[in-house]
Amino acid sequence: METLNRAARAGLSGYTPPTGIAPLREAIAHYYTQSFGATVDAKRVVVTSGASGALLLTCMALINPGDEILMPDPSYPANQNFILGAGGVPRLIPCQATQRFQLNAADIRAHWGPSTRGVLIASPSNPTGTTITREDLRALIAEVRARDGFVIMDEIYLGLYYGDAPQSALALDDNVIIINSFSKYFHMTGWRLGWLIAPESMVPAIEKLAASLAICAPSLAQHAALTCFEPEVMRIYENRRLSFKQRRDYLLPELERLGLHVPVTPDGAFYIYADIREHSQDSDDFSHRLLHEASVAAVPGRDFGPAHARHTMRFSYATGLDRLQEAIARIERFLA
Ligand SMILES: Cc1ncc(COP(=O)(O)O)c(C=O)c1O
Repeated sequence: METLNRAARAGLSGYTPPTGIAPLREAIAHYYTQSFGATVDAKRVVVTSGASGALLLTCMALINPGDEILMPDPSYPANQNFILGAGGVPRLIPCQATQRFQLNAADIRAHWGPSTRGVLIASPSNPTGTTITREDLRALIAEVRARDGFVIMDEIYLGLYYGDAPQSALALDDNVIIINSFSKYFHMTGWRLGWLIAPESMVPAIEKLAASLAICAPSLAQHAALTCFEPEVMRIYENRRLSFKQRRDYLLPELERLGLHVPVTPDGAFYIYADIREHSQDSDDFSHRLLHEASVAAVPGRDFGPAHARHTMRFSYATGLDRLQEAIARIERFLA
């Protein structure tokens, strides 16, 4: 807030370049190099209005009318709209627990058709909180590249990990288009700030689109975000990550105890994707009753694709441990 006030008082609230202010692009490039094992030139970073802005620009730049894009089912629902908005055809491929609900190389071989141009994936994923393994990602990228396709990788939850320190997909292939944001790890949802990292050859086209579609990302938010990368601020974020892990470690066994089974242990983000079959065959009805009879909000599987719609629900732990404990107590009474 102090940095924001300083920037506002200094009159830095006008338009910025469409790709973002230079120091922020540099800070993001450095963050990727330092934290996620990928050497990134700041010229490849485009600052956007959230990951949503980055997804919109990337889809507009890469997708022509009729182009088909493969995505895992389940996945973040808005992705379909970005693809449709660009005239493309989103194609959801059912992905099972055995593949950590992530698209894999076998899916590419089985589902790549004459109109397919690329894939849009996320690791860790919303709604499952599961990451794609290094080997699976490497094999997936190889299959897509062999077909001259593109890989869009949404790394919005990359900083929120609960196992080994993660690497960006860029560490495997410099041509992957990366989506990321200040919304999740950096806790700045409403500031509307994110970024994409693209091959240098794509940046001029994206810059033109950015200038027409949004002019620039919010200026004051860009200046304020520079503070995120200061070491003492990063320590705050790291402590926050550890408290997310604590919440996951509380919620997961509690859901299991209540018969809400979690087929794959989530190792990132702040979601638990649970199988509700022990209690209901209809997640719409179950989530509706949970909300109205127990005042606990969780999202039915349908929102993330048809494959697992009826028997899954997404629980979020983006709230304090005390509220999670209260939620568990209410769910337990509801199920009794
Ligand atoms: C996987 C995924 N991508 C993108 C977004 C959009 O985030 P932003 O607030 O950065 O636009 C979300 C938000 O929940 C998300 O879960």
